[in-house]
Amino acid sequence: MPEKELLGVNGALGLSQKAMGELFGKYVNPGLKTLQSVVGFDKRFVRADGVSVYDEDGNRYLDFVGGYGCLPFGHSPKDILAALDEVKEVPNYLQVMTSPYQAALAHDLAQIAPDGLEITFFSNSGTEAVESALKLARGAMGEGVFVYCSGAFHGKTLGSLSVGGREKYKKPFVPLVPGTVEVPFGDAAALEKALRENKVVAFITEPIQGEGGVIVPPPGYLRKARELTEKYGALLILDEVQTGFARTGKMFAADHEGVRPDILCLAKALGGGVMPVGATMATKKVWERAYGGLSRAVLHTSTFGGGARACAAALATIGKIAREGLVEKSARLGAYCLDGLRTLKERYKIIEDVRGMGLLMGIEFRKPGGILDILTAGSVNKIAEEYCGALVASELMKRHRVISVYTLNNPNVIRLEPALIVEKEEIDFVLNALEDVLSRNKSFFSLAASIVRK
Ligand SMILES: Cc1ncc(COP(=O)(O)O)c(C=O)c1O
Repeated sequence: MPEKELLGVNGALGLSQKAMGELFGKYVNPGLKTLQSVVGFDKRFVRADGVSVYDEDGNRYLDFVGGYGCLPFGHSPKDILAALDEVKEVPNYLQVMTSPYQAALAHDLAQIAPDGLEITFFSNSGTEAVESALKLARGAMGEGVFVYCSGAFHGKTLGSLSVGGREKYKKPFVPLVPGTVEVPFGDAAALEKALRENKVVAFITEPIQGEGGVIVPPPGYLRKARELTEKYGALLILDEVQTGFARTGKMFAADHEGVRPDILCLAKALGGGVMPVGATMATKKVWERAYGGLSRAVLHTSTFGGGARACAAALATIGKIAREGLVEKSARLGAYCLDGLRTLKERYKIIEDVRGMGLLMGIEFRKPGGILDILTAGSVNKIAEEYCGALVASELMKRHRVISVYTLNNPNVIRLEPALIVEKEEIDFVLNALEDVLSRNKSFFSLAASIVRK
């Protein structure tokens, strides 16, 4: 075999922006590389600290994507990294032995989760937490269907996708897992009909749809979903992969309505921004039914789930959220930011809606409509639906060095999800940046034109 040149870590650190783009396009994902370069998201960042990231020329950017919610403390959180140091000499993976780290983390999770969620299974991502929940529910309940919501996002592995609510991501992969029923999000009557007409294993939902466009259901919806699932003998699975850990101004979004699900899916923020950690919590009753007893104890496992370092990061994360009052901070600063966004909505017609809770916020842009849409047989609307959020995000990045992103299941919505440690001044900066972008581009067309001009 001819000798091949390897890049290694130093090679990665030393790649120029151009070389990085070429290698990414060749070896990772050509289409994604093109998409990122069109909107200017192909910059090379060399340093990161809290809400700030820095490019090669030392320019500071404000990161309001927050790793899609996996950066509760922003970038390079020193105390979480220090927790990894504390366990650097213990066995990270010695799965055959009882783990003190899993034991402690499961204990701490049970202290902060809705009462009665006692047992935790550890994995490495949100979609695994959801897969584990679906299997657990099936194992506990036997045959029957899963009810899920339109617009829902639970991850992209086959099981999670089967209970996802956007056709675009599902269609290329049919047949998916059979036995699913879709209901509109926030519609308790539709949920009751599905529960009445089917033998339902579980209803799975996010308390607030994140990727669906930051959709907050009507007040009382979750409580009603709890009542109905109990009435019809089905389980309630809450996916708090995105909304968990102070994101919405409570430790868990379920706490806004005092709801206790049978199964709770967690990930993202749990790893403190340094380790991938997924967790699926369940009541003892549900867990016992699926995996109770010696012969069923290893029906569901994960090689990496619950490693010592992952657990240490998660333990430190929970401690830091509690110690630093980040639940209250998320509620307070989220309300402040939403207020600012609502003021912008009053001023700029291109904003259709502003929504959110705590530091999970969405800005929906208006579809252009009108005479131009008629003339183009709706194609203008089609473009706006797919790209308006991306265009605004691109302008925010290019003009103001603010990093934001559109939501996956509703690309016409920009999501703002900064780290919980964000400060008021940083929120003010982003509100002013948005105001500037919107005042320059009063319509979708000028926005599109401004991208084309560059
Ligand atoms: C509510 C929800 N569930 C599940 C997932 C999937 O998580 P992951 O990307 O870690 O698999 C996401 C990711 O955005 C999410 O928002």
